[in-house]
Amino acid sequence: MKVLLIGSGGQVGQELGRLLKEPLTVVQLSREQLDLTNLEQTYQTVVDQRPDWVINAAAYTAVDGAESELELAHRINGEAPGVLAKAAADCNAAMVHFSTDYVFDGAQGRPYLESDPPCPVSAYGRSKLAGEEAVKAANPQHLIVRTAWVYGSRWKGNFVKSMLRLGVDRPVIKVVSDQVGTPTWANDIAETTARLITLPVADTAGTYHFTNSGAISWYDFAIAIFSEAIALGLLTKAPDIVPITTAEYSTVAKRPANSALYCTKLRDLLGHAPPYWRDSLRQMLSELV
Ligand SMILES: NC(=O)c1ccc[n+]([C@@H]2O[C@H](COP(=O)([O-])OP(=O)(O)OC[C@H]3O[C@@H](n4cnc5c(N)ncnc54)[C@H](OP(=O)(O)O)[C@@H]3O)[C@@H](O)[C@H]2O)c1
Repeated sequence: MKVLLIGSGGQVGQELGRLLKEPLTVVQLSREQLDLTNLEQTYQTVVDQRPDWVINAAAYTAVDGAESELELAHRINGEAPGVLAKAAADCNAAMVHFSTDYVFDGAQGRPYLESDPPCPVSAYGRSKLAGEEAVKAANPQHLIVRTAWVYGSRWKGNFVKSMLRLGVDRPVIKVVSDQVGTPTWANDIAETTARLITLPVADTAGTYHFTNSGAISWYDFAIAIFSEAIALGLLTKAPDIVPITTAEYSTVAKRPANSALYCTKLRDLLGHAPPYWRDSLRQMLSELV
């Protein structure tokens, strides 16, 4: 089986590139090798490769940047996935596409099901929702995997790495305590994806939620990062972590207040619940030791 992995340089892409091995034939393409803003080249690349699966781990992920780079975000997140899906359909290939909890407004008061109507509150969320719709329209053989708050050990910048860096430089860190979601380790997303592509897509096609288990605020997450990092000897002491509200921490893009996702559909398919967020955090930090 041949897999074409697009966006192999990102957090999820790097973990997929490491995990997907023989007997699979895996062709990995980073942004340097395939720029999704070139839609013609994007289509042609897939058709030339004739894969069985296209996995799209590439995205414009700068949530605040998308508010001013509307067209670029829409092209990468909204249009290119549809082109990949169409090219995959033309080769009778299936497609995995990643999406986000930010397709929801976060106002529901309980975790979101796949069947809940999306209602993004940011340009990034709208561009990702457009991508979902384009994939669905272009190729019935699709798996859309919505995930959230992703961090990976091999990536240059994410919330976990930022906290560890700030913790060395600053005695006090203010962290938002009224946005709730689920931190999710890129490695867990990759492992689940690797399993999903072994199942017959005729039985599985559709939209799924996958995050680690549990839901917390960014503030709770920061406390846990420092506590686990100290236990592992990565840091000697934690800074003071001060909870603040979203209103006190102004960002260009609006973010959902509570975007936790129910992952029961995937749990029922795979027969087990996703790893608990804190266990995955500990494992990721232990890789940094
Ligand atoms: N990060 C999160 O917290 C989060 C949360 C929910 C959902 N998701 C979704 O999960 C998926 C994976 O996210 P991630 O965290 O792994 O993202 P990431 O680390 O930001 O990686 C995205 C990758 O896409 C590449 N890319 C950007 N523009 C491109 C273009 N024009 N052509 C080709 N490649 C391009 C980037 O290249 P460069 O390395 O050159 O920039 C990067 O390698 C995405 O669909 C994202 O929307 C992410």
